[in-house]
Amino acid sequence: MSETLNLFPGRVLYGAGALKECRELLKGKRVFMVSDAGLEKCGVLAEAVSALEPDEVYLMNCREPRLSDAQQVLDALAASGADAVVGLGGGSVMDAAKAAAAALDSGKGLSELLGSVSLKRRCLLMLVPTTAGTGSEATCNAIFIDDADGVKKAMISSAMIPDAAVLDPMLTLGLPAAITAFTGVDALCHCAESYISVKANELSRAWSLRGIELIKENLPRAVNAPRDIEARQNMLFASLFGGAALRIAGTTAVHALAYPLGKRGVPHGVANSLLFYEVMRGTLDDPSSLIPGFEALSEMIRALPLPKLSGYAIDAGEVPVLAREAMDQTRLLNNHPAPVDEATAARIYSTLFA
Ligand SMILES: [Fe+2]
Repeated sequence: MSETLNLFPGRVLYGAGALKECRELLKGKRVFMVSDAGLEKCGVLAEAVSALEPDEVYLMNCREPRLSDAQQVLDALAASGADAVVGLGGGSVMDAAKAAAAALDSGKGLSELLGSVSLKRRCLLMLVPTTAGTGSEATCNAIFIDDADGVKKAMISSAMIPDAAVLDPMLTLGLPAAITAFTGVDALCHCAESYISVKANELSRAWSLRGIELIKENLPRAVNAPRDIEARQNMLFASLFGGAALRIAGTTAVHALAYPLGKRGVPHGVANSLLFYEVMRGTLDDPSSLIPGFEALSEMIRALPLPKLSGYAIDAGEVPVLAREAMDQTRLLNNHPAPVDEATAARIYSTLFA
């Protein structure tokens, strides 16, 4: 028998202005909001504060959170006496918020909770994505850079699946085109990789497939017409579906090869956008037979306004090291439907510098 628990957020609230109607869910609670300093500048934070009236707001200031950043969130949450946590932001903020909420009653620090852990969360957890990409609002993973060795590590617990996920497209209307594009490609990779993963099942494939369709139809629209509310809403659904599919099937070789690039400063979604076509082409006999619309999706990615690898401080001489580091991502490589060895990884990285 196989079983999957806590598949999905307890509730999903969506629609333009959905956030404004969420105060009711937090009624009678002492609310600790975690957000991103960047959202203060664009007005999204003020909007959320006025909608949810949190008792305390903790602002993070980091693109890729370190374990110590998330520990500070946990310490501030513990000191606040809050019994509800709202994570408002991209994947980094939501990861820190859900890890802190899940760890709150454990009596342990986050460095003691890496890997798969059994935790009981008593506080209410609400996650509000402000980008359509990570799907963190539906996954039980939080990824942090370990301060001790600089390696990205995961905390995995079903206690991190939120009680509520709020998909309000109004919060994403102000996203610049490039961020819309690369976060959207991250969501696409979650859907496509989970679809071909050896761990995929009928539940995950249904989410993956619908996510792929939605992204194909809506990502170019959201990039070209940023205030297209329907396209923004559909991208948020696709991102949620990608996260839910990851919960079962995980990612595969694209994400495995993206990690070494991320370590060198390439944003996660940019790394995935560079690698999607090359990894699938370089490792699968016939990617089009496994991923519906593979060639059209690759074309779509090429047409998006994405940063190029030449904009980052990495050169072709690093290919052997990148390939070696990618081999450390055994958890993801084992999900891939074909073997990926170091020589194959090196060949794929080389194509990025050609
Ligand atoms: Fe990702």
